[in-house]
Amino acid sequence: MKNKKILITGGTGTFGNAFVKRILKEDVKKVYIFSRDECKQWKMREQFKDERIQYLIGDIRDKDRLYRAFEGINYVIHAAAQKHVPSCEYNPIEAVKTNINSAENIINAAIDRGVEKVLSISTDKAVKPINLYGCTKAVMEKLFIHGNNYCGNKNTKFSCVRYGNVIGSRGSVIELWNKQMKDEGHISLTDLNMTRFWITIENAVEFVVKSLKLMEGEEIFIPKLKCLEVRKLAQLFTNDKNIKMIGIRQGEKLHEILFSKEESQRTIEIDNSFFIVYPSIYKLNLNYDRWDNHKGMFFNNNDYSSMDQDEINIKEMEKLIK
Ligand SMILES: NC(=O)c1ccc[n+]([C@@H]2O[C@H](COP(=O)([O-])OP(=O)(O)OC[C@H]3O[C@@H](n4cnc5c(N)ncnc54)[C@H](OP(=O)(O)O)[C@@H]3O)[C@@H](O)[C@H]2O)c1
Repeated sequence: MKNKKILITGGTGTFGNAFVKRILKEDVKKVYIFSRDECKQWKMREQFKDERIQYLIGDIRDKDRLYRAFEGINYVIHAAAQKHVPSCEYNPIEAVKTNINSAENIINAAIDRGVEKVLSISTDKAVKPINLYGCTKAVMEKLFIHGNNYCGNKNTKFSCVRYGNVIGSRGSVIELWNKQMKDEGHISLTDLNMTRFWITIENAVEFVVKSLKLMEGEEIFIPKLKCLEVRKLAQLFTNDKNIKMIGIRQGEKLHEILFSKEESQRTIEIDNSFFIVYPSIYKLNLNYDRWDNHKGMFFNNNDYSSMDQDEINIKEMEKLIK
């Protein structure tokens, strides 16, 4: 990252804010925050007093704005998204415009402006999706991974990072339950058997930094994550008496999947700590051999699901949500 100019779409969000904090510790030349709302940018300006940060108002749906913003940029981290399941269901065309059409804008602007690397943030909801949010993120992944095919004689590389629920991110269940306990004295729980993969924002950021350094294009990087039943998380907020069962919501899965059994056939595990899913269209120039110590392809024919992975220690989780 030394001397690099890095632009983060959605730079004022939960991820963007933590990512900026982290990369300012590196010898980066400039950090550009790209997002729509000037109020969030103003708050960040108050938080970070660092001359290397520059704030750009812009919408990723606006390709002319992206062309202007990407001039001279070395790396783009694409974190902006419409990310709430119900809001994507209710406003489907908006979700398509932000999560899919804007991906095309970013790919074109990045190639034409000579950006070296573009790393896009995805979610476990993109795997075997059952809601529009997941569907749009699945298409977004495809666009970026196969965006490498559009580069011609340019050297832009596109990859993705995919992970599970960020503990305490904006709009997360933890934020909701804190508010419900404060306002109503009870919390709502969808299903006693529901499980999720969990990651701290610090670990998510660290994993993105590592993926940015490692990426050669076409990889989906996935951290090995622990999971927890949502009901056990609920018990950290209140006792059973104050937990109201509301039933699974439209578009929600009981368990999430970080990579599917079909993807597992083109997935390798590295250092017992993360996975790389390679593209579905095999290309001869993919450099699998760089991973000397990899465990090899996964032919385990199973979804990597939150239903049957190691559980987070509940005491550890208690500390994380404080
Ligand atoms: N949070 C999680 O649990 C989780 C898990 C897995 C993956 N992810 C993915 O991680 C990424 C970041 O999530 P997050 O939790 O940081 O989200 P967040 O806190 O809601 O932040 C979203 C950011 O995107 C910006 N944005 C939204 N629409 C935009 C548009 N049309 N043009 C420009 N900027 C736009 C927002 O700023 P303005 O509103 O000011 O534009 C904000 O800065 C997303 O891609 C999400 O899908 C999140």
